[in-house]
Amino acid sequence: MKISYFWTANTIITGRGSLNRLADEVKNLGASKILIVTDPVLLKTGLIDRVKEALAPTGLEIGLFSEVEPEPRLQVVTRCQQAIKEGGYDLLVAVGGGSSMDVAKASSILMTNPGTINDYIGVNLVPKPGLPVIAVPTTAGTGSEVTPIAILSDVEEQLKKGVVSPYLLPRVAIVDPELTVTMPPHITAATGMDALTHAVEAYISVNATTITDALALEAIRLISRHLRTAVANGENMEARENMAMASLLAGIAFANAGVGAVHALAYPLGAQFHVPHGVANAVLLPYVMESNLLGALPRFKIMALAMGERVEELSDREAAGKFIEAIKQLSTDVRIPLHLRDLGVTAGAIPGMAEGAIKVTRLLANNPRKLTVDDIREIYERAF
Ligand SMILES: [Fe+2]
Repeated sequence: MKISYFWTANTIITGRGSLNRLADEVKNLGASKILIVTDPVLLKTGLIDRVKEALAPTGLEIGLFSEVEPEPRLQVVTRCQQAIKEGGYDLLVAVGGGSSMDVAKASSILMTNPGTINDYIGVNLVPKPGLPVIAVPTTAGTGSEVTPIAILSDVEEQLKKGVVSPYLLPRVAIVDPELTVTMPPHITAATGMDALTHAVEAYISVNATTITDALALEAIRLISRHLRTAVANGENMEARENMAMASLLAGIAFANAGVGAVHALAYPLGAQFHVPHGVANAVLLPYVMESNLLGALPRFKIMALAMGERVEELSDREAAGKFIEAIKQLSTDVRIPLHLRDLGVTAGAIPGMAEGAIKVTRLLANNPRKLTVDDIREIYERAF
């Protein structure tokens, strides 16, 4: 067995009503002035008021940065950094989906390290820990509350870029499924399929470990059983609880095992066509997995079993086919399209997207099948 490390948030608090533990965690971290980092849409839902209420027992001054956008640009991090500096905040509470958490995580390290966010794009380039971040996800999918990664859009280069450092890991993750109840069905579907993609890619990653396997398989099992219900009826708390847990498990798994070609191929869709991250992953997932089958055939049978497919008597190859069918069926059931052309992607853009995806070497290195730029173009064409 090769040597491997396992990283996650220092403290993970789960369960209905766990938001009410927020004040205690702020006190434990010894903060004096708190900045909530969120997006304008969430601000309107009243969820931020609940977070402020949960913070009230601290008696501390609370500021608000609500300029986070979907697929956030590098510039948003710079603006958040300015807000932290101007207000003299020493703790960030990120509330929202992956975008808000990623902006908070990226901004936090800029308060203790010199330069701009551009200096830290890449792996392990951050010298010192940043301000503490408490992550409070309101979607069930990105897993950003437990990952050492922030993904940001470079508009000029039309690329998504990643800052990866253990110092980006939130100090505390509070995963309260009650915060996900108001999430509309299309976001529940997209974020849920993102979580499934995390689990699947972590499970077949060349850097998978026994720890990440256990987490990834349980996430796959939970998502295949509960995502449909969560999309059909967002008020079903059992479904919401199970999806929140699945997203967390998948996040912990991929934070350590890594994600692969699905995420690499999804980035150009987000950067050039503004396809939401989860939708891009969901559409690409079956086609990338068809290409990946040879790289991890026995593992596909195990994933098919985790999804509840009756494949015990089948060969690995046949069972793997059932797995691909099962993920396509799940995607269709939650109303995600099966083709790139349904997302506004043009055929003429494919060669350029393949050139963009092949540059995401950080993720392609985890993929169980080595891909060339021609392989990637073929996958896009099949998915088109
Ligand atoms: Fe993702």
